[in-house]
Amino acid sequence: MKTKSATKPRSKRRSSPNLAGQSRRATSLKAAKPNLWNRTQRLVTTRAYQAVQDLTPGSPRSRGPSSISRARQKALLQLSPFELKDELIKLAESAERENVAQFLNAGRGNPNWICTTAREAFGTLLRFGIEESRRTMALPDLGRQIAKQPGLAERLAAFLASNPMAPGIKLLRETWDFGIKRLKFDPESFAYELTHGVIGDSYPVPDRMLRHCERIVHEYLAREMCDGRPPKGKWDLFATEGGTAAMCYIFDTLMQNSLLHRGDTIAMGVPIFTPYIEITHLERFSFKPVNLDASVERRRDGTHVWQYSDAEIDKLADKRVKAFFLVNPSNPPSYAMRPGSMRRLVNLVKTKRPDLIIITDDVYGTFVPGFRSTMAELPQNTIGVYSFSKHFGCTGWRLGVVAVHQNNIFDKMLARLPSGTRASLNRRYGPMTMEPEKVTFIDRMVADSRLVALNHTAGLSLPQQIQMMLFSSFGLLDKTDSYKQLCQLIVRRRYQALFEGLGLTPPADDTRAAYYAQLDLMVWAEGEYGPEFAKFLRDNYECIDVLFRVAEQSGVVLLHGGGFGGPDWSVRVSLANLAEDTYPKIGQFLRDAAAAYVKEWNASKPTYETPRT
Ligand SMILES: Cc1ncc(COP(=O)(O)O)c(C=O)c1O
Repeated sequence: MKTKSATKPRSKRRSSPNLAGQSRRATSLKAAKPNLWNRTQRLVTTRAYQAVQDLTPGSPRSRGPSSISRARQKALLQLSPFELKDELIKLAESAERENVAQFLNAGRGNPNWICTTAREAFGTLLRFGIEESRRTMALPDLGRQIAKQPGLAERLAAFLASNPMAPGIKLLRETWDFGIKRLKFDPESFAYELTHGVIGDSYPVPDRMLRHCERIVHEYLAREMCDGRPPKGKWDLFATEGGTAAMCYIFDTLMQNSLLHRGDTIAMGVPIFTPYIEITHLERFSFKPVNLDASVERRRDGTHVWQYSDAEIDKLADKRVKAFFLVNPSNPPSYAMRPGSMRRLVNLVKTKRPDLIIITDDVYGTFVPGFRSTMAELPQNTIGVYSFSKHFGCTGWRLGVVAVHQNNIFDKMLARLPSGTRASLNRRYGPMTMEPEKVTFIDRMVADSRLVALNHTAGLSLPQQIQMMLFSSFGLLDKTDSYKQLCQLIVRRRYQALFEGLGLTPPADDTRAAYYAQLDLMVWAEGEYGPEFAKFLRDNYECIDVLFRVAEQSGVVLLHGGGFGGPDWSVRVSLANLAEDTYPKIGQFLRDAAAAYVKEWNASKPTYETPRT
């Protein structure tokens, strides 16, 4: 990637085409997407959004070395990027307190938008649920547990018809019709699940997931993870407390059931969300990781494509590799696996590795138009993880799901375990059922999530499942995908804004999710100033030095890309949680930091006096 030059005088940079300002960029986007533009405009005028828009960094501290010594930086390098971030936050906050910079936390992947309609629908359904619970009661503060009796469906339908102005009623009505007409739900059962679910008046039954919620979330995954072209058959879904819990449950059950063993070789697509790296190293797992490195393949100019080359994918042919952990689209680079690599992976698994366990974490799938997961391409081998956190702005709700296809290799692997192992597993799951051998892999995961003994109270809380279902039906019933396109537009515009600040032009790429940007400083250093400058940087600074500089001098918190298994000198910028107009500034601050390194390099060179003649 060529910079428009980090050393150009400021005035020139300001008038350069890339930094010509928001208005030019805004005008071109406006012309391209008038409807979305209008909606974005509405969005940015909401108070919450405005609050972040209004942040204006003060004048930064003078550029130069960080006050954090190299030795201290080296010591801090052992922390995970998410822990290191707390150190950076302290510096950035102190910069803000001293009024030298505005604290801008571009470290977190928490979106700063939320989906309102599905929440409104939840609120209105809750109102119905409470009315229903009080229907034949006249006591203060107390209602009746929702009864599964005929008449509930009729009352719910009447409520939906007679409250046309209630917030979210349109979505509720359409969800009801979708369930009854399209999915052929029995109205009484559906009404009961919705009503007692929203109230949360009993333990989750079935524990894995409420039946109607499961069907609707299934439809959502078929649409969003498979581009509307799901594989034959069905997945069983397990509703979990976010993708985070899904990951814990998956690793635990694979180990408990001897499908993975301590010390096994596993493959990981890196850079990757750090917990996958850290879990791998935990004593209990002690996995031997083989990295499929997306930073190997480069463009001619040295920049990353952030895709797995054929040679990297072919590492999976090694029979010692038991499982492949994939985050797709990736975090931090934020690219979906390109179709050619997906085809190579599918071919490799089908021809050489039908036994390969694939754990795909597709949390960012909705940010790439036409996204197709390995859930779609290799359903038998895949354990899918999806989280509602990012797309719907609901990290606090803790909504995630594990998907395992009903025709899968895991159940077959369980049946083929040595008899001693099977006997011990039968003892483990025996208290749950008379036929423990028949407990499927995903149901074992549900039981393991509550140490088997508490299986009867396992499962995600019912109101959470109802909200998850409403997010799903909202996505499904949004025929023009306007919400999805709006979310994509929000992060893309910020991505563009960041690159304008950097003075760089990112190449067009259909696989880019743009939820994060991973910027490799070494690529820039080598490309712009050559290997000597790169060596100067390596010799004189820790790779995280730039993070400390931008935190204390500009108030900007970024994450260390090296901690995600990416290039050491890379940084992760989250495009999820700050207002668009902060991103050109972040780009500019990074550029200023780069210019300071160049200055230090120039100052370090020996100066020779011109010999007098
Ligand atoms: C790849 C990936 N998986 C899972 C998660 C966690 O998701 P949740 O909020 O649903 O726990 C994140 C959050 O950043 C993520 O990036």
